[in-house]
This record gives sequence, structure tokens and C-alpha cells, in this order.
Amino acid sequence: MQKTSSAKQWFEDSFPIDLNVLKEISSEPIPNHLKRWWFAIGGTPLYLFVIQAITGIILTFYYVPHPAEAFESVARITTEVRFGWFIRSVHKWSAHLMVLTLILHMMRVFFTGSYRRPREFNWIVGVGLLMATLGFGFTGYSLIYEQVSYWAAVVGTNVAAATPFIGETLASFIRGGPEVSDNTLTRFFVLHIGVLPTVVVLLLVMHVVQIRLHGVTKMRFSEKDHQPEVEFSVRVSAPVTPIREPGASSGSTGQSEEEQAKEESFPFYPDHLYTEIMVGLTLTFILTILALIFPAVMGEPANPLVTPEHIKPEWFFFATFRWLKLTSFTVGVVGTLVFMGILLLWPFIDRVLLKKFPGKEISFWIGVVGFFVFLIFTVWEALV
Ligand code: HEM
Repeated sequence: MQKTSSAKQWFEDSFPIDLNVLKEISSEPIPNHLKRWWFAIGGTPLYLFVIQAITGIILTFYYVPHPAEAFESVARITTEVRFGWFIRSVHKWSAHLMVLTLILHMMRVFFTGSYRRPREFNWIVGVGLLMATLGFGFTGYSLIYEQVSYWAAVVGTNVAAATPFIGETLASFIRGGPEVSDNTLTRFFVLHIGVLPTVVVLLLVMHVVQIRLHGVTKMRFSEKDHQPEVEFSVRVSAPVTPIREPGASSGSTGQSEEEQAKEESFPFYPDHLYTEIMVGLTLTFILTILALIFPAVMGEPANPLVTPEHIKPEWFFFATFRWLKLTSFTVGVVGTLVFMGILLLWPFIDRVLLKKFPGKEISFWIGVVGFFVFLIFTVWEALV
């Protein structure tokens, strides 16, 4: 008994935290619509990032970042290291799912207009997270040092070199010289295991702090068709008249603001946390099944002297790759940069569109067209 209380005392002395404050912070009310998985899908890439970090650290114990040994070391992980094939396969599948769920999360934010004031900055942070995640995919793929992944790195760095004004400097910084060489692998390795994880963690902290400061956008669903109440689309989705403007009266229901807020939300702890744990367990199951049925395999080792007939990047670059093939290289690169700029500044562009065309659904339709162009280009590239 004495022991317990002294241990408790030691804990309280070491961590002088007011448990009531902790309880208040963790019981943030979550709007009811986040009970629908589609709306809370932002938690999924977060979980997958943790899986990436854990499996990535294990792989780094065995991987050798030198062109003469990189391919062999991956082959050793796949065939000799105990459970190496499994860890590598989970790392690979988790990367694919992370990009996929990130795209879904971005679409949910876009089509519900949740990037609008005051959340413009968080959208920009989100675009940074997307770019960094794609950077993970690009550098990670090249680390295997297979023929296809080596040549994907050559094409990728040539694309960077075609950037107006800064292209050559940028490409030679990424490659560690004028061409893809031994230095390139070292740089990709440092980017993959050091720079990008740091950037993602910092951006994630900013993202979560912003979510915590603003709360998640509130939406109300009509009882009849379970569609969110909408502003820029009457059919599928979109914003999102805040349920209660600050200071507004609670209307004809006769409820107090506090009662109404309670009815429209549920506590983070334990309800939402349990849901997230269930999502995590389901994802772990899916990753295990994928790793067992479709384990990561080895291709041909890289040969810098022989250009392969078909160069394939990862699927999430298919659309860009198709676009580059359809246009001249410079137009393709400038087009891609313009697209990235539009994505980054979208909340402000949307604001201008809303002012110019009030009541129209321009932003919604731009999103629909953008999504289908991405889908068609991706499938097109996959099929050739
Ligand atoms: C690793 C990457 C990311 C993680 C882990 C993440 C995580 C989250 C989480 C947990 C939420 C709370 C609501 C929800 O689950 O949907 C959220 C909201 C949000 N995210 Fe992300 N996110 C990521 C990337 C992005 C990207 C790429 C964008 C957009 C370009 C974005 C923009 C936003 C915005 C604007 C909100 C607020 C939505 C609202 O108020 O309803 N996020 N994010």
C-alpha cells in the first residue's frame, strides 16, 4: 500500500499535470457526422504513417545505401532475413494505401468545402503533406535499385531539370551531380529516412494543432436522404452551413445552445478513440492479407547502360507521366507546376469564384472534372 502511494507521489511530482485539464483536452466534442468513416478518413493516413515509420526503421537495419550493394541488400531482406519479406511487403502496401487514403481525404475536404475560411492555412499544410508523401513514394521506389525504379529516378530527375529558371540547380541538388550517379542514391536515402519524415512530422503537428484550434467543420445531414446540407452542390456533397454561427439563437427548437451542441456531437474519448482503434485493427488485418497474398518481389537489378523499353513510375505518378507524354517536356512540366500552384492556392481561388458567380457550383464542377481527368489519365497510363 505504502509502495503504491509513493509510486503515485513520484509520478505526480515528476509530471505535475492537472488530470482535469487532460480530461477536458481529450474529450473534445466531435461533430456527429464524423461517425461516418468517409468524413473521418484523415485518421487513416496518420495510422499508416506510423506503420511506415516502424517498418521503415526495421528495414533500415538491413538496407545498404550504396549502388553496388543496395539491390543485393533488398534481395537479402526479401529472402534471408527472418520475416524480412513480411516487413518489406507491409511497408510497400502501407505506402500505397497511405497515398490512396490521402487522395480520398483530400476529396472529402474538397467536396465538402472544408478548406474554406478559417481553414485555408490547413489546406495549404495538407498540400505540403501530400507533396512530402509523394516524395516518400518517389525516393523509396528508387532505393530498391531495380532496373525500372532506377530509370524512374532518371526520368523523375529529368522532369525536375525541366523546371523553368531553377531546373538545372534543382536537379543537380537532387542527383548530387549533373547525372544520376552513386551520389544520387545517398541523397534519396537521406531524403527518405531523414528529411521527409522530419518535414511530415512537423507538418502533421501543424495540421493537428489547426484542427484542434478550429474544430472540424460542422455539417448537418437532412433526415430524409442523409446528404449533408450543401452550398455548392445540391446533389452529392459540399458545404456546409455551420450548424450554429457564434451568437446565433438556437431557433425554433427551444433548446439551449449547450443542449443543442451536445446533441450534435459526441466525445473524442472514448467514443472516437475506440472507432479509430477499430479502424487501425481493420487496416492491420488488410495489410497482413495484402502482404501474404501479394508479397513484394524483386525485379531486374539496375543497369545504367541499358534503357528499358517501358519505364513505369508508381501508380500515383501515372497521370503526370501520361500528361508529360502527351505534351512537350517543357509544356508538361510547366503545366504540372501550374496545377500544383492551383492546388496550393485553391481556397483563395474558390473565394474569387464564389464572389464572381454567387450561387453557382463552379468549384464543385472543377473538382469533378479534375478528378475524372486524373482517373482517366491514370487508367490510360496503366493500360499501355
Ligand atoms: C498525412 C497526411 C494527412 C493526415 C494524417 C491528415 C489528418 C487529418 C485529420 C485526422 C483530420 C480531422 C478530420 C478527418 O479525419 O477528416 C483532418 C482534417 C483536415 N485536413 Fe487533413 N490530413 C492529411 C492530409 C491532408 C491533405 C493532403 C489535405 C488537403 C490538401 C488536408 C486538409 C485538411 C483540412 C482542410 C481539414 C479540416 C477539415 C474539416 O474541418 O472538416 N489534409 N486531416
